[in-house]
Amino acid sequence: QKLDIELTAIEKGGYDHFMLKEIFEQPQTIFDSLRGRLDAKNGQLTLGGIRDEYADLLKNANRIIIVACGTSWHAGLIAEYMIEELCRTPVEVEYASEFRYRNPVVGKGDVIIAVSQSGETADTLVAIESAKQQGAIILGVCNVVGSSIARLSHAGAYTHAGPEIGVASTKAFTAQLVVLCLIGLKVAKEKGTITQQRFQHLLDELQDIPEKVATALKLNEAVKAVAAKYKDARDFLYLGRGYNFPVALEGALKLKEISYIHAEGYPAAEMKHGPIALVDENLPVVFVATRDSYYEKIVSNIQEIKARKGKVIAIVTEGDTTISELADDVIEVPAADELVAPVISTIPLQLLAYHIGVLKGYDVDKPRNLAKSVTVE
Ligand code: G6P
Repeated sequence: QKLDIELTAIEKGGYDHFMLKEIFEQPQTIFDSLRGRLDAKNGQLTLGGIRDEYADLLKNANRIIIVACGTSWHAGLIAEYMIEELCRTPVEVEYASEFRYRNPVVGKGDVIIAVSQSGETADTLVAIESAKQQGAIILGVCNVVGSSIARLSHAGAYTHAGPEIGVASTKAFTAQLVVLCLIGLKVAKEKGTITQQRFQHLLDELQDIPEKVATALKLNEAVKAVAAKYKDARDFLYLGRGYNFPVALEGALKLKEISYIHAEGYPAAEMKHGPIALVDENLPVVFVATRDSYYEKIVSNIQEIKARKGKVIAIVTEGDTTISELADDVIEVPAADELVAPVISTIPLQLLAYHIGVLKGYDVDKPRNLAKSVTVE
């Protein structure tokens, strides 16, 4: 048993928990997801797991359906924004458990992207099995090499984030985002729905992500201070718009999983249709409000929360002055194109959930009632 304890300590590589280790590994894991695929200098992108035949089917797809659960479902939502913008192909994002039971309309011409860290989630696996029987093409975006979903897929791209031990997904999520972005870019390029200039710009942006994530990780102490301030809140609201809306969902999920605090993610504009009723001086509201095409809109959403005395914690782009004046707490992350910004804005949210969980004394690597991989219904 002593040996076991010592081995675990070595595996944690000096970190207190696997979750923190995995959060801090992200500059490297994202680099690994891009390695051999992205060649920004020469304007090239290669995805060896999607042969020409499947690349053509993707290019000509009537629609793309993304099927996933949990955190992977959130990555799918961000991919919906990316792929629709880049490829002009309609995208639907489905909870695997709902999709598999409702006799969905699928067939030839549909491409299904199954997103799964473990590649073993029962709902996702069964959902793609039946879609495959109905003639759909399946692409797997999995982390575990040789997993059931990977094997069942016609083609795919591994996320290469390395083994993820912490039950709440962190590094697998950011790896999913970059791989889904690569897929979107590849299709857009072949379909001719992206200009050469924008294509090159996004390749450069992807190349810069590991470094920007490393910069965002330097916020650890600042985020810990915010965590200490709000750890006793009963509820949290997370708001974002556009690409940052699913980031808000994922931030809320991380907090629920790790700290057992009730948290809701919402599109910032939708809050006035319900959640705004919860706002008072005791409610921390996390805004994911980096500089993007929705910026002015989210500033007014922040004002609406402040007018009701809510506490605003804002994730903003470095150098932001407008929101800094409105918010109670501000966390500045490096600037990035809005399409890849979620990879960076998600980092402080992972850290916030982690620190609140640790400060409350919970086992963040093995939260109660949760399993790393749900292989039963
Ligand atoms: C479980 C895990 C989550 C994960 C979800 C989907 O609920 O606790 O972290 O996001 O399953 O798992 P998958 O392996 O399919 O991505």
